[in-house]
Amino acid sequence: MKRKVLSMVLAASMVATALVGCGGSGESAPAASTEPAAEAPAAEAEAPAANTEAEAPAADAAAPTGNKVGVSMPTKDLQRWNQDGSNMQAELEAAGYEVDLQYASNQEETQVSQIENMINGGCSVLVIAAIEANSLSTVLEKAKSANIPVIAYDRLIMNTDAVAYYATFDNYKVGVTQAQYIIDTLDLDNADGPFNMEVTAGDPGDNNAPFFYNGAMDTLQPYIDAGKIVIPSGQVDFATVGTPKWSTENAQSRMENILSSNYADGTKLDICLCSNDSTSLGVQNALAANYTGDYPIVTGQDCDIANVKNMIDGKQSMSVFKDTRTLASQVVKMVGQILSGSEVEVNDTTTYDNGTGVIPSFLCEPVFADANNYKELLIDSGYYTEADLQ
Ligand code: BGC
Repeated sequence: MKRKVLSMVLAASMVATALVGCGGSGESAPAASTEPAAEAPAAEAEAPAANTEAEAPAADAAAPTGNKVGVSMPTKDLQRWNQDGSNMQAELEAAGYEVDLQYASNQEETQVSQIENMINGGCSVLVIAAIEANSLSTVLEKAKSANIPVIAYDRLIMNTDAVAYYATFDNYKVGVTQAQYIIDTLDLDNADGPFNMEVTAGDPGDNNAPFFYNGAMDTLQPYIDAGKIVIPSGQVDFATVGTPKWSTENAQSRMENILSSNYADGTKLDICLCSNDSTSLGVQNALAANYTGDYPIVTGQDCDIANVKNMIDGKQSMSVFKDTRTLASQVVKMVGQILSGSEVEVNDTTTYDNGTGVIPSFLCEPVFADANNYKELLIDSGYYTEADLQ
């Protein structure tokens, strides 16, 4: 698989080089193209020349022309994807690329047809945040035949050997950060508990969701084993606690049921472990309408505006900040490195196997956020303005 991907990358970069030679993108050659020639692409080092030639379709036959990057985002409904999309567009355009940015309304078929249009429309690279991890194999076969390298953005695309690279945040660490906050806040190393916890995880169709869940649950497991944390609903395995499409409404209605079945008698709820902000919002809505005891610890992820406001108001305890500007910059760098045939910067070559092999990945660092540090993290850094949070 690796050799095929490398061949595609090489073929695409040959085309890009040819285009630069033609002056097609002369006014805006990507920054990465200025990398010293001495940095031989890893591809050349690893792929025997004979195989490269044998497996790569002739670049001039099927390879795309142009300097266009297709960016496929899942939905405009969640704030983070709007930020990801507009950051990518701004950075790619600033680097001189033409951008075809599409949002797919969380509809798998829409995403497939948008990607198909990007392929037919001559995109040289595709950057894709998948709605459903397994739904893109067929359309990405077409990308592969057209020698268009694919970068999986934030979410790994599963079971296709068309994915060349993956860029994301350290998803396991997101869960660990949420769990560590719970451990520290309740002083679980010293307190006896038991503390009551309920778990809300992400979309089972998103490969990130089990990473978040496992990061948190692996970290909390010793305290569960010691009886310091208990789960009154008994709902704990990933399949049971998942939230289809990460929807606020789904998380809310599941939590309403849990509250009415397990907490209506005044049982105290101490911890709501929520994988992200959209599900956390649903849990907070359920708590507001159905729970009158001492307010529990509620976790989240993304620092969405509504959730940061709730952190300031004390309705959400923490979130995990994933600066979408950092991820976008890294991916723009990757695009430049791919198209210029430079070595593509990755920092993880073991964690993310998409079913066809490990995909070389770049993992950005997630950061802990709460009501005490949000100003520095989010406002001083220019991510939000004060007015956004009013
Ligand atoms: C992302 C999270 C996001 C979730 C819902 C995940 O793949 O990594 O940041 O909250 O999708 O959109």
